Amino acid sequence: MNRRKVEVTEVAGTITRALQNGGVYLNSRDGEKINSMVIGWGHIGRIWNRQCFAAYVRMRRYTRELLDRNPEFTVSVPVNGQSRKAFEICGMKSGRDMDKFAEAGLTAVPGETVSVPAIREFPLTLECRVMYRQEQVAADLPEDIRAKFYSDETEDHVVYYGEIVSAYVLED
Ligand SMILES: Cc1cc2nc3c(=O)[nH]c(=O)nc-3n(C[C@H](O)[C@H](O)[C@H](O)COP(=O)(O)O)c2cc1C
Repeated sequence: MNRRKVEVTEVAGTITRALQNGGVYLNSRDGEKINSMVIGWGHIGRIWNRQCFAAYVRMRRYTRELLDRNPEFTVSVPVNGQSRKAFEICGMKSGRDMDKFAEAGLTAVPGETVSVPAIREFPLTLECRVMYRQEQVAADLPEDIRAKFYSDETEDHVVYYGEIVSAYVLED
């Protein structure tokens, strides 16, 4: 499997649109356990003179546990269209209860520079190492946002600022 390198700035628009239109896949790993969840919130940018993908993961997610144990992740973008099955499994079920890759029929491809795999079916990939983790304080948010998105502290978001260490498209 070939990794065709891409410039982050060239694919930033594609990734932003995918976040808005059905989401992308945030992949994590701890030991032999790999997991993927759909995310709709996140952004590409620049901080500490590094290219960064910031992901917003609610405290109660299994993905949050994995990221805290192994602070690396990959982002897989379904540039050839969403898979309804993968979307429903990765966006609505928890990896605590199942092997989502197996259930969704997703193929894990070893990461180039991180321990977390990419997904063959969603070929546009970012590999990221967490530089910083920040727990948001929902109480400090405007009341309308807090009321809409946070009913208890398990829903608070943890922001993971991942340095983008590799960006590519998987090709046969
Ligand atoms: C379109 C869509 C976007 C989502 N965006 C996020 C997100 O940005 N952050 C988050 O914590 N959960 C988000 N979720 C919910 C998780 O994908 C879902 O709770 C998942 O089952 C968590 O898996 P895990 O428990 O294996 O980590 C989203 C779900 C969907 C369907």
